[in-house]
Amino acid sequence: MPTDLVISPDFSLRSVNTFGIDARARAYLKVTQVGQLAQVLADPVLAAMPRLLLGGGSNIVLTGDFDGLVLHMAIAGRALVGDTVGDTAGEDGGSVLVRAGAGENWHGFVQWTLAQGLGGLENMALIPGTVGASPIQNIGAYGAEVKDVFHALTVFDVASGALRTMDAAACRFGYRDSVFKHADGAGLVIVDVTFALPRAWTPNLKYAELAQELAASALAAPSAQQVSDAVVAIRRRKLPDPAQIGNAGSFFKNPVVSSEQCAALLAAHPALVHHKQADGGEKLAAGWLIDQCGWKGRSLGAAGVYEKQALVLVNRGGASGAEVLALARAIQADVLARFGVSLETEPVFV
Ligand code: FAD
Ligand code: EPU
Repeated sequence: MPTDLVISPDFSLRSVNTFGIDARARAYLKVTQVGQLAQVLADPVLAAMPRLLLGGGSNIVLTGDFDGLVLHMAIAGRALVGDTVGDTAGEDGGSVLVRAGAGENWHGFVQWTLAQGLGGLENMALIPGTVGASPIQNIGAYGAEVKDVFHALTVFDVASGALRTMDAAACRFGYRDSVFKHADGAGLVIVDVTFALPRAWTPNLKYAELAQELAASALAAPSAQQVSDAVVAIRRRKLPDPAQIGNAGSFFKNPVVSSEQCAALLAAHPALVHHKQADGGEKLAAGWLIDQCGWKGRSLGAAGVYEKQALVLVNRGGASGAEVLALARAIQADVLARFGVSLETEPVFV
């Protein structure tokens, strides 16, 4: 085994997953340099182990102990790396390219870009986790998604042992989706991500709740920092802080149904929350569906549904992955029985 790989055996993962589930890993390595990934592959014992890539652990559910090697991505660094002219993010004035290491904290990176005078990431302030995981499910909030300002990323390809660059097309971004959540993206370790932030910034206030928050503060022409502050205020009101109560954010994706199914549901439930999609489908609010089934604030064992947001499942203290799964299955069954809509889980199950 290479001497500079500090492997911790039988490692508790409790402090590195925001659900606070007490599972253990056979081995754990904090990855601070890209070269460590090649060293892992060069070691026959480590290379043969199942691998789990871990960032901030804010979108995973540990369903049991992990009998393999956890690679905790902690590669640091953030920098302005250049300019582009006439790309999608900045046709009027071009954009500034900013790059961060996979292990950088996402919210810290957003605040750093704002301190450089660059807007573009402010609607996604306070999303937990790392920069490296941000493309995995194409994180999004308050009317923006990572794909809107994405430029490229670097992956370490476990199959070849080489680094390569992927552009947005190669990442196949969708709603809470990308190539990295599918079989052909397995074995790709994201080591850094580059964003193209517009020189000519204008606020994105298409999300009604955000526009109302700023209007309430009488901010007619907010700065990017003020938009970020408003997003942070909304999120602090609505979502549980994982440091206080374990959770993984939205537990289910918002389902997209056909316009016909939406019309039939609306006839029976006039208050149904729905938003038309570009392809003609209708996105429903999973939180509303779960709320209507009476789940808000309820618990099954030590797993519960958050009192202020029915889309968020929480750890009421010592919950196991099995308890969280049992609650999720019960909710899915109720929503299917009442509305005929299948809810797909959002976090990654390990
Ligand atoms: P992890 O949970 O550590 O990993 C997630 C997945 O990515 C795993 O499959 C892991 O193997 C893989 N992975 C991690 N790092 C890498 C890497 N470097 N290379 C390859 N694969 C990797 N999400 C949103 O989109 N919008 C929100 O508004 C939002 N709000 C949230 C609020 C709360 C309170 C919480 C707890 C979560 C929220 N989330 C939200 C979900 C979560 O914050 C994001 O999915 C985030 O990007 C996960 O980052 P992470 O570093 O914690 O990833
Ligand atoms: N609603 C209810 N009851 C509830 C929860 C929600 O009726 O208990 C209704 C709300 O009143 C609102 C609608 O459902 O009309 C949507 O709720 P909200 O605005 O809170 O957003 P969401 O759809 O629940 C999504 C994302 C969040 C993101 C917010 C803001 C998904 C799965 N979730 O939540 O992302 O922060 O919008 O953009 O798309 C995450 O992915 O982990 C996450 C937190």
